[in-house]
Amino acid sequence: HQAKMIVDKDFVISRIDDRIYGSFIEHLGRAVYGGIYEPGHPAADERGFRKDVLSLIQTLRVPIIRYPGGNFVSGYDWKDGIGPKDQRPSRLELAWRTVEPNQFGLNEFVEWSRTAGTNVMWAINLGTHGVDEARNIVEYANHVSGSYWSDLRISHGYRQPHAIKTWCLGNEMDGPWQIGAKTAVEYGRVAAESAKVMKWVDPSIELVACGSSGKGMATYPEWEATVLDHTYEHVEFLSLHSYYGNHDNDTATFLGRSLEMEDFIRSVVATCDYMKAKKRSNKKMQLSFDEWNVWFHSNDADKKIEPWQIAPPQLEDVYTMEDALVVGCLLIALLKNSDRVRMACLAQLVNVIAPIMTENGGQAWAQTIFYPYMHASVYGRGQALVPLVQSPKYDTKDITDIPYLESIAVYDEQAMEVTIFAVNRDLTNSLPLEVDLRSFGACDILEHIVLQNDNLKATNTASEPNRVTPKMTGNATADGSKINATLGKASWNVIRVR
Ligand code: AHR
Repeated sequence: HQAKMIVDKDFVISRIDDRIYGSFIEHLGRAVYGGIYEPGHPAADERGFRKDVLSLIQTLRVPIIRYPGGNFVSGYDWKDGIGPKDQRPSRLELAWRTVEPNQFGLNEFVEWSRTAGTNVMWAINLGTHGVDEARNIVEYANHVSGSYWSDLRISHGYRQPHAIKTWCLGNEMDGPWQIGAKTAVEYGRVAAESAKVMKWVDPSIELVACGSSGKGMATYPEWEATVLDHTYEHVEFLSLHSYYGNHDNDTATFLGRSLEMEDFIRSVVATCDYMKAKKRSNKKMQLSFDEWNVWFHSNDADKKIEPWQIAPPQLEDVYTMEDALVVGCLLIALLKNSDRVRMACLAQLVNVIAPIMTENGGQAWAQTIFYPYMHASVYGRGQALVPLVQSPKYDTKDITDIPYLESIAVYDEQAMEVTIFAVNRDLTNSLPLEVDLRSFGACDILEHIVLQNDNLKATNTASEPNRVTPKMTGNATADGSKINATLGKASWNVIRVR
């Protein structure tokens, strides 16, 4: 029972696009109100931005954040969120059955993003809105001046254009739960026409078309093919969404779900490349996995929420140690496919299925899943190297041939460092690992970080925020270019080598 990995600097999957470590903030639950924005909070700045939350986000080095939804965006009028705050309307928000007070909108989010050191991925409404609003919002956000919408932005105090580069053409338009859901043809047409005029306003932008809201949808993958048939020449990205849960408390299967994520990615790549051939196109469609995470803990509680409140607690999953392992495996799955997955968003960032939790008026802390996400984002920049892995495997009733070892190495040429991310999926035994770094010469271990807890259901909460945190307890050693380590049972490992 042991695993081996060979890593060579000449065997490169791809240079990783930093935006693979993106995240997502929706006007939902306490993500905005009570999360990133809470005027009057002791840690809030003069704009109401919570500095304690900002500092946790800065630790994660989040490169891009999708906003303002999600299902929310399909009924959202972006004009409700601009101009003097006391004149902004409160609206019934039908996606999540709340009241949206519109005290935080486009300009606040752009300003907040600058402060957080991240970029904006703006999703437009293609549920209740269409081509006209699509061009107007790009004019408002990105046009310099001298037109109605750009001058309106300037009158709101923003002389410089926001230069929002990345735009999503709607959200999950295949889902019957979506406000203004569409067939693939209906969506493909409106997405193509919106894309066209948005780029006429600002040719420098890049666009993401909606793929299926999950691979379980009956219309998948025909949806992808039809949507791309209409939009191929107009967009740069196709989106993927996927959430994972452990409803049956079957942890061995839960840990294997990242294999399904990879399978999903491969089939969407195949559909994109089929359309490339059909179109005789030179363009390689890129993927934006712009919603992914573990999501299931809060499902029952959410059914009991009273409608039409402002920012009630919604989708507040409290994550466990085992969820952190799954998130680690999902991050590795994204990296293994980083030649085509150029952007990805951990859904979401604060309070709503999120690595960061807050109390209204109180503290902010890191959930268990914060740590693998932070390690990947901070140390996983550079080139993803092909992981040639030999590992014992196991079967469950749903999935077969799950390797106990899930791993990938990332080479940062500038720092001349290799980082090995590794999960041991074995719930009872540790796993000896040998990594052959043959092309790197003699190596030194910088550190071997471990996230592990004997209780797989252990969580970080307001009263005990540091129960699950990474420790420098790994035992990796280097002998020339060979690394040896014991990966503890059910553990997330970060082995940094120079
Ligand atoms: O992230 C929560 C929700 O999941 C989003 O609003 C929606 O796009 C998806 O179904």
